[in-house]
Amino acid sequence: MAELVRNIALEAAAVVREFPVKGKKVPFTAVDTVSLRLYEGESLALVGESGSGKTTLSRMMLGLLPPTRGDVQVFGRDISTYSRLDLARIVQPVFQDPYASLNPRKRLLDVIAMPLKASSSPSKDEVRSRVEALLRQVDLPVSFAERFPHELSGGQRQRVAIARALINRPRVLVCDEPTSALDVSVQAQIIELLKTLRAELGLSYLIVTHNIGVVSELSDRVAVMYHGKIVEEGAVDAVLSSPTNDYTRQLLSAVLPVDPDLARPAIAAAIPLL
Ligand SMILES: Nc1ncnc2c1ncn2[C@@H]1O[C@H](COP(=O)(O)OP(=O)(O)OP(=O)(O)O)[C@@H](O)[C@H]1O
Ligand SMILES: [Mg+2]
Repeated sequence: MAELVRNIALEAAAVVREFPVKGKKVPFTAVDTVSLRLYEGESLALVGESGSGKTTLSRMMLGLLPPTRGDVQVFGRDISTYSRLDLARIVQPVFQDPYASLNPRKRLLDVIAMPLKASSSPSKDEVRSRVEALLRQVDLPVSFAERFPHELSGGQRQRVAIARALINRPRVLVCDEPTSALDVSVQAQIIELLKTLRAELGLSYLIVTHNIGVVSELSDRVAVMYHGKIVEEGAVDAVLSSPTNDYTRQLLSAVLPVDPDLARPAIAAAIPLL
């Protein structure tokens, strides 16, 4: 029988990230020898308490922060060998606070088109038709192209940030708490949007989250970080219903019902993981 070969979209191999500490000779190790794979087409959630190293790891996997030791590969090639533009066509970030990442002085047409203009010389018509297609894809009215970021709600702004991340047709999104800055009622809508986009575009997701809804609704696998290390990793159903690690159990016991049949709460988006 032919073996199923899955491409590895992102891979961290024994990655370490240290930060210098003022007045001390020994640096602080924020990410401690982590190896992690994101397979093409899958959605992997990265969870863990505040300060456990999730953002630091995801920044290294985006090429925004170099590892102190170890390496990161993107589709089998060392991340440091990609040009910024080539990398941006493959992996795009979506951050927690959409307002901070959108230029307040530009209309959404230009905000969303910015990565497209940076990587090619599209005509005005091309820009407009691509931006309008993306607005439709993220369920915003096409007329929003003329608006400014402050004229939008938080959820609408996150939709714009997602549209902008998609304009160069990347294969991977690395999302750092994409729902944390949003009202509870809006969180579920953004989860639903990310779910639809993944199905439509065949995207792979690495999602840092404190939101059990993101884990249960949007992810295939989950990796649990604690003090810079991955302490548990597995299929979402398995980890949520019978975690093997003490820390994972503690993390989940605060938010999940004991009955494993209820481990996928229906309105999970409303329940914060931490
Ligand atoms: N640039 C930096 N300089 C020094 N220390 C840093 C730097 N960035 C992160 N750290 C430290 O590394 C550790 C991990 O931080 P990180 O932001 O990765 O955590 P996190 O898991 O994303 O937390 P949160 O859930 O609160 O976002 C923290 O102790 C943090 O203070
Ligand atoms: Mg973080």
